[in-house]
Amino acid sequence: MKLQDLIANAKMLVADNKGLLAMDESNPTCNKRFAKLGIPQTEEARRSYRELIVTTTGLGESISGAILYDETIRQQKKDGTPFIKIIIDAGIIPGIKVDTGAKSMAGHPGEKITEGLDGLRERLKEYFKMGARFAKWRAVIAIGDGIPSQGCIEANAHALARYAALCQEVGLVPIVEPEVLMDGYHTLEKCSEVTEKVLRTVFNQLYTQRVTLEGMILKPNMILPGLKCPRQETVDEVADATVKCLLRSVPASVPGIAFLSGGQSAELASARLNEMSVRFKSRLPWALTFSFSRAIQQPALEIWQGEESNLLAAQQALYHRAMCNRAARRGEYNSLIERKGI
Ligand code: 13P
Repeated sequence: MKLQDLIANAKMLVADNKGLLAMDESNPTCNKRFAKLGIPQTEEARRSYRELIVTTTGLGESISGAILYDETIRQQKKDGTPFIKIIIDAGIIPGIKVDTGAKSMAGHPGEKITEGLDGLRERLKEYFKMGARFAKWRAVIAIGDGIPSQGCIEANAHALARYAALCQEVGLVPIVEPEVLMDGYHTLEKCSEVTEKVLRTVFNQLYTQRVTLEGMILKPNMILPGLKCPRQETVDEVADATVKCLLRSVPASVPGIAFLSGGQSAELASARLNEMSVRFKSRLPWALTFSFSRAIQQPALEIWQGEESNLLAAQQALYHRAMCNRAARRGEYNSLIERKGI
């Protein structure tokens, strides 16, 4: 694939005020979410749930790309139609999570390193042949006593850059996801300081590994106080701090920044993205959009409960959340849209 096609695909993923749907939970993560709701943790239950998502009418109005997991990209609708065909027919670009998970990092208690580089070139080629046009790799950075360490930040940034270079070689747009976690007592300032350091390190590594910035998407956290921090900033303050941090650390040649939701409520994630659009949209070098999993899927999953009779209501909830986030990109999300839709 030519570089121009890669760059065009990256642009397409963040065009038209649409965003990404992360539906790439690994089997253990998906099972954990099912277990909380009493849904059976079987391959068939995961398949039915993914069928619910990909067959939601009108999803392509708000979603530009869907990130799949290895199990899901190979699955089919009950009638035998491959999920990947349904996604493409809906005007959505299929993507794939390609890291093999964040594992405990040797010599670094409380920290993780994301694995999956071994054999990655061959796996990427296979996914491209199957129809995927972008990929995702998630690194996790925890804030706590004495962490994150330089060693953890550097190792994760290096792996992200090696992954991104391999993706571009094969013709997949890399989604580069260094997630600074919300868990803990830390302040918003601390999150900003750590995120800036992480992003600067990641972009240094991307440069060293010769990644074309025009052909990638950054997937960062918003700048937020830890979940247990007594001071929880307003939506305006979060929007300001997030854009300020990104302006300091993300080169203007990156076409788009697609936030993860990271455990924020669905409504707060939409409200914070909306505020960034209202205040800054016309002045930013990159598109700001969403790549949420929980903040799009969770309400639908809670309605579905594994029951066929709840299917339509769950699909409506999924459609609604995707549409609210598209409104947030336009800076038009508000409580009326939240309650009634557009
Ligand atoms: P959340 O939006 O639930 O944080 O998930 C985003 C994601 O894809 C994590 O890798």
